[in-house]
Amino acid sequence: MSIFLCFVLLLPLFIIFLKNIKPSKWNLPPGPKALPIIGNLRNLQGALHLCLQNLSQKYGPVMLLRFGFVPRVIVTSKEAAEEVLKIHDLQCCSRPETAGIRMISYNCKDIGFAPYGEEWRLMRKISVVELFTAKKIQTFRHIREEENDVMVKKLSESASRRPTVNLKQAIFTSVASIVCRVGFGVNLHKCEFMDEDSISDVMHKMELIQTVPLFSDSFPGRVGRFVDWISGQKKRLGNLFSDVNTFNQNILDDHLKPGRKFVESSDIIDVMIDMIGKQDEDGDSFKLTTDHLRAMIGGIFTAGVSTSGITMVWAMTELIRNQRVMKKVQDEIRTTLGDKKERITEEDATKLHYFKLMVKETLRLHPPAPFLLPRETLSHVKIQGYDVPAKTQIFINAYAIARNPKYWEKPDEFNPDRFLDSSIDYKGLNFELIPFGSGRRICPGMATAISIMELGLLNLLYFFDWGLPEKDEGEEILTGNDDALDLVKIIRH
Ligand code: HEM
Repeated sequence: MSIFLCFVLLLPLFIIFLKNIKPSKWNLPPGPKALPIIGNLRNLQGALHLCLQNLSQKYGPVMLLRFGFVPRVIVTSKEAAEEVLKIHDLQCCSRPETAGIRMISYNCKDIGFAPYGEEWRLMRKISVVELFTAKKIQTFRHIREEENDVMVKKLSESASRRPTVNLKQAIFTSVASIVCRVGFGVNLHKCEFMDEDSISDVMHKMELIQTVPLFSDSFPGRVGRFVDWISGQKKRLGNLFSDVNTFNQNILDDHLKPGRKFVESSDIIDVMIDMIGKQDEDGDSFKLTTDHLRAMIGGIFTAGVSTSGITMVWAMTELIRNQRVMKKVQDEIRTTLGDKKERITEEDATKLHYFKLMVKETLRLHPPAPFLLPRETLSHVKIQGYDVPAKTQIFINAYAIARNPKYWEKPDEFNPDRFLDSSIDYKGLNFELIPFGSGRRICPGMATAISIMELGLLNLLYFFDWGLPEKDEGEEILTGNDDALDLVKIIRH
């Protein structure tokens, strides 16, 4: 019965596939042989960035793979990345859609997933002016400092009761509290509609929505959607999104309350509400809607919290694994700042050099978005001499580029010293190190993220000494490939 059902489901796909076979006049990038219908799906096993890194060693830095019916070009060299993100940035700066992305971004109405065009330009401009200019970042400084004081206090209390703490949770809670206060004026410690537990639940669901595999992502069209429907994946996605939507809606409702008093000052959501109120009824240009507001809330939260949080967790994991680097970083911090400080400020971070190289090295070894965000071509381009047709998805494997022995000595080693005599930086100009992307769609939150991560790590390293817990958790931190700081030993505080 199940074989018969598979046959009935796959038959229409097979017919569409046969219709699409025609000899190509283009010089398409090389890649592993694609099978009928499933394409290269059988080649993709294990973590995608690692699997594609391996394939690129055989097929080269520009590869073409078919994920079901969807062609994707994978870029794995700094030269090819520069062509996509700089030379042909304008032709390569749109974003593809998947069912999960469409859902979480209210039909691609947030900045990160909006296709290139007027709508994206306006959303990006609003976010830059309201959140990301140097002046704005400076005005949020007290928020970052206060939230770090809270984290240090909680960790100290927890360490006085037992020798191990859940450092990962402490880091994520602190980053989420900062992003919520900066982005939406919501103070998690005083908020009526969410707390630390509910926020980590929403964070988890947002990540799942973007990673839940859907049949229709590889087999777009009615058949794909039908399979998602009968397999229950669509329902699963809907259930996850329901809680995320409630989170976004609660924040929006809080802003729409009559007589709302600003907790800090007016924030980006207040500004957008004001813009909606002043919009002309007619006119040709598109209108901001409440979906844009919900998408902005969800977008800032997803883009800001897990990326910065994961990077901090990796920094601490690598430091605990590499005691030489830990000692060098802590010696610099404690010698420069002295040992009598009761509170760390952002000015303290500006006095440090090796510490900043350590953050840079963490971003090299563990970019939290290993493929950046996928790009989609607006028109035909040539990358490294290969034809890439319009509407092709491009994945830049920033993870593999940052570990390529052609550009990096002992690339898998965590060693901030490699940057001592190097001017390579992560700001989008050196294509061997692009954790924040580059070009028009470069991460606008880069400076915010660096301030959040540096201040957080500085507090953790100034006030505490860290060590491996006994038993399995210690082994996991030492040898694991996943970030693993659920239980870490606080040695001194
Ligand atoms: C370690 C921290 C972070 C990393 C590594 C990171 C990385 C990235 C990357 C790789 C992209 C896609 C760039 C491209 O396509 O070329 C991106 C986009 C974006 N990031 Fe970040 N990000 C971080 C933190 C943040 C923070 C804290 C915020 C805001 C609070 C933020 C907001 C955004 C937004 C809005 C976009 C979409 C930009 C667009 O498509 O125009 N990010 N980020």
